[in-house]
Amino acid sequence: MTSRRSVLASGLSAAALYAAKTSYTYAEIDRMIARGDVKGKLSKADLPTPALIVDLDAFEGNVKKMVGYVKSKGRAIRPHGKTHKCPDIAKYIIAQGAVGACSAKLSEAEAFADNGVNGLLVTTAVIGKHKIERAVAIAKKHPDIIYSMDNAQNARDMNDAAGVAKVKLNVAIDLWVGKRTGIIPGDAAVALGEAISKLPNLKLHGIQAYAGHASHAIGFENRKKVSIEAMTPAVETRFALEKKGISCPWLSGGSTGTYNIDTHIEGITELQPGSFMFMDVDYNRIGSESGSEIYTDFKNSLFVLATVVSKPKDDTAIVDGGLKAFSTDKPFPPQWRGGNELPYAFAGDEHGRLTLNAGKQVSIGDRLEFIIPHCDPSVNLHDRIYAVRGEQVEAVWRVAARGLGQ
Ligand SMILES: Cc1ncc(COP(=O)(O)O)c(C=O)c1O
Repeated sequence: MTSRRSVLASGLSAAALYAAKTSYTYAEIDRMIARGDVKGKLSKADLPTPALIVDLDAFEGNVKKMVGYVKSKGRAIRPHGKTHKCPDIAKYIIAQGAVGACSAKLSEAEAFADNGVNGLLVTTAVIGKHKIERAVAIAKKHPDIIYSMDNAQNARDMNDAAGVAKVKLNVAIDLWVGKRTGIIPGDAAVALGEAISKLPNLKLHGIQAYAGHASHAIGFENRKKVSIEAMTPAVETRFALEKKGISCPWLSGGSTGTYNIDTHIEGITELQPGSFMFMDVDYNRIGSESGSEIYTDFKNSLFVLATVVSKPKDDTAIVDGGLKAFSTDKPFPPQWRGGNELPYAFAGDEHGRLTLNAGKQVSIGDRLEFIIPHCDPSVNLHDRIYAVRGEQVEAVWRVAARGLGQ
């Protein structure tokens, strides 16, 4: 029988070795993947490509570091589920110490709630009769869910629907501290808090304040300045409400880029970062507190595994992952996990083009891993995330909220 060493010595790549080792038919692999029965059985070489994979050692390390850091500063953490859209991941992070999971959209919250995730915070307002009906239906089964809102009419609408359904809804005032949604901090927000506190079927939980423009500000000192400027009015609003006798014990905000800034701002009680668990090319660029231009606080754990399917020219190889495998909202392409020697360029919907004149050679059939330009929209392109340790596949996580943008 051929040993691993003799196969490698014969010049076959490790990828070919694993493929050669597998004795499964594709139908068997497909069934194992569908059942999630993969641990100790499947290796990366068995996966159909392009495949979204998570390096478990890096992922678990990122979670441990973020949860440990935030808790060590006396704050709670409720990581954003818009990043992973996977109930399995939300439940794993809760088991590591998070208080729950955020969701960006109502349908995402439904997917999490239906799959047993507790402690949900919906970070954008629920607008319109049907969505409010759905919000109330989730709250009936998950009374700890918190809904964000930024205007009095929506508060009244939510209150009325909650009254009909005989539930009490926890709500947060969404503050405009970034460039997205929310009511202006200060008097307007305090007035909304007063209005909410008078509505019998709503309970004011606190303030939701996400400053997205701070998270990717380049350079730590710059980011610190931007985040403090953005979040100070949120803290002031919280204390202004308290001064009026309106209980506001909770203020949630922050991101992967600002976790070690916002946890030092007095008055912020909870963080809601998302990307830290996976990281991406975009976040790698923001710079660390140490002064390094690369953001080294968290490791890249999310990759697209792709296969070399064509070598039309000596200096060109084509892989089977293109615009449908990676997000395309950023001005930079995916990066080969191994370094700079295989520059990638998008080559259409299904393909990517690698330039081979930087030192590294590849063969048809080789499998390569690429760091994703932007993690959240990339996850939304895949049905599953394969959790791998080394070459072995340990779990298959269903992206249950994939495509749920309503
Ligand atoms: C409301 C809200 N909170 C938190 C986050 C998490 O940010 P990050 O992925 O940068 O950590 C996001 C991301 O877009 C967000 O929209």
